[in-house]
Amino acid sequence: MRRTDRSVALGFHRTRPSHALLEHALSVGITDVDTAFNYQAFDGHRELAMAAGELIHEFTISTKVGYFPVGNSNYHSLRRWILRQAIEQTVDDLGVPPAVILLHNPEQTLKTLHPAQAHDHFADACEELERAVDAGLCGAWGVASWDPAPLAKVLRAGSDCPTPSTLMVRAGLSLTAKQLDAGESLGWELNLDADQRWGMSPFGGSTSNPTWTTTDLSSFLEPEQDHTPVQAAFRLAFELPHCTRLAVGTGNERHLSELCAAIQLEVNLSAVDKYRELITAPG
Ligand SMILES: NC(=O)c1ccc[n+]([C@@H]2O[C@H](COP(=O)([O-])OP(=O)(O)OC[C@H]3O[C@@H](n4cnc5c(N)ncnc54)[C@H](OP(=O)(O)O)[C@@H]3O)[C@@H](O)[C@H]2O)c1
Repeated sequence: MRRTDRSVALGFHRTRPSHALLEHALSVGITDVDTAFNYQAFDGHRELAMAAGELIHEFTISTKVGYFPVGNSNYHSLRRWILRQAIEQTVDDLGVPPAVILLHNPEQTLKTLHPAQAHDHFADACEELERAVDAGLCGAWGVASWDPAPLAKVLRAGSDCPTPSTLMVRAGLSLTAKQLDAGESLGWELNLDADQRWGMSPFGGSTSNPTWTTTDLSSFLEPEQDHTPVQAAFRLAFELPHCTRLAVGTGNERHLSELCAAIQLEVNLSAVDKYRELITAPG
């Protein structure tokens, strides 16, 4: 894989889109953004479109459907008509068809069902996403899963599920061995190539724990490269599990520039292998 095959996606789960931040992203070469139907209290698509203005056409947008409001609470659903409505609304609100629409944590709906029933339900939802691509409502479809283990079981319960073009799972040093294995295994189960595997949440949602900013991770990198601990952790997340695009949240332009620079860091892959062995070793 060429080094330039790694990319940063600016994620809006915890960060509000703003014109200045989007302009800055473009200025440092970030053209991917990640949002979802439920972000910014279910107004994230309109907020992104408003903040971006004409810049919207310069971004490759991934978004997610599958989490919906009902009264004062929210619920996960994979029902076809709800997905279709959400996809159509997404295109209206963004003003452009997103590049990729992902099913948002489908395991939340599926894990309460019998595996065979879950398989059929999941396959139906995947077909609806395929139809959305055929109808020109998005360029491709995929799956974003916070807890991938139940999904692998669901896939094994049948054989006729359409294959997503992209899988997005958690990545980075905050993952347990089980979480790392589950995300990686699902990618294999779906037979996805490296460029179809995306990561998210490289800091588990926050860098406020001083461990992120003070731990010396230089032994995981090739020598003589300038970096901060956060940059090293970010770069390592592309290997844990191996992925080519990483969705990260920041509202800070300097932080975004740092992340962008970090993708060029060279990793000591044998140190990463040792780390994997250590965390998977029986205790
Ligand atoms: N199931 C799903 O589909 C799902 C779930 C979670 C996340 N995601 C996606 O992944 C994206 C990122 O995940 P996340 O928001 O959970 O968290 P994250 O990216 O793991 O962490 C975000 C935190 O990292 C800090 N940070 C970023 N760059 C930094 C730097 N250079 N130096 C110091 N601190 C830095 C940010 O603070 P500052 O703002 O101060 O920089 C922010 O508090 C989301 O926006 C979303 O797109 C998807």
